[in-house]
Amino acid sequence: MTDPVLTSSLLYLDDVRVSFDGYKALRGLSLVLAPNEMRAIIGPNGAGKTTMMDVITGKTRPDEGTVFFGGSVDLTKRDEAEIAELGIGRKFQKPTVFENHSVDTNVALALKAPRGAFATLFGRAARDAREKVDGILRRIRLWDHRARRAGDLSHGQKQWLEIGMLLAQDPKLLLVDEPVAGMTDSETATTAELLREIARDHAVVVVEHDMAFVRDLGVKVTVLHEGAVLAEGPLDRVSADPRVVEVYLGR
Ligand SMILES: Nc1ncnc2c1ncn2[C@@H]1O[C@H](COP(=O)(O)OP(=O)(O)O)[C@@H](O)[C@H]1O
Ligand SMILES: [Mg+2]
Repeated sequence: MTDPVLTSSLLYLDDVRVSFDGYKALRGLSLVLAPNEMRAIIGPNGAGKTTMMDVITGKTRPDEGTVFFGGSVDLTKRDEAEIAELGIGRKFQKPTVFENHSVDTNVALALKAPRGAFATLFGRAARDAREKVDGILRRIRLWDHRARRAGDLSHGQKQWLEIGMLLAQDPKLLLVDEPVAGMTDSETATTAELLREIARDHAVVVVEHDMAFVRDLGVKVTVLHEGAVLAEGPLDRVSADPRVVEVYLGR
């Protein structure tokens, strides 16, 4: 029997369990993401949000449970490199750009396309690569900053650059952990706008504590607590849920 929920999903987690030396970081986590869906994940510190991303990307292997990508690929049987190759890209909290390279070089270095000497220097492949880099630079709002040293960008701009480096790898699914931590209000608003644009043709999972930002995303919210889903739905509905107020919003 095939499960229609599984086969129509992009990402499918069912009853996932992870323990670290007896501490249960995930205790029966289930989550289904549709193709091209953007989902916001909220929840108190220690809820298991980062561990969930570690499981999806193959960094941590679950003790139990089901993790499928594209309705048919069992991610628990793949390693990190294979999972990245399948089209799952991850942005960690701390930006990891090449500080001494220019902004456009950072994006070019991240391109998935083969970068043999020929492709780099000549012909159609080079033109396509250039166009792709330019498109990404415009999308991440760094076109006017493309020649600057990446290390000289603001914190927010470095985060956008790293999102651009993810896009250069053509991911089907982007996992983004606390992208607006440390950003100014205006950078935060721009990041929500950027992710909404990206979500038009990619699936995105965003973990974030900033409620104004989550509201700006305008997507379904999943609340994690003690390694499982506590509530799920539109932000207005979950934020009115007394259990969510109790464990998270009421702090
Ligand atoms: N590699 C690890 N070894 C031991 N404990 C871990 C490890 N990773 C996470 N944990 C623990 O698992 C729990 C969930 O952590 P985490 O997934 O980082 O939560 P969140 O991202 O929601 O704040 C925390 O109590 C954390 O200390
Ligand atoms: Mg975390």
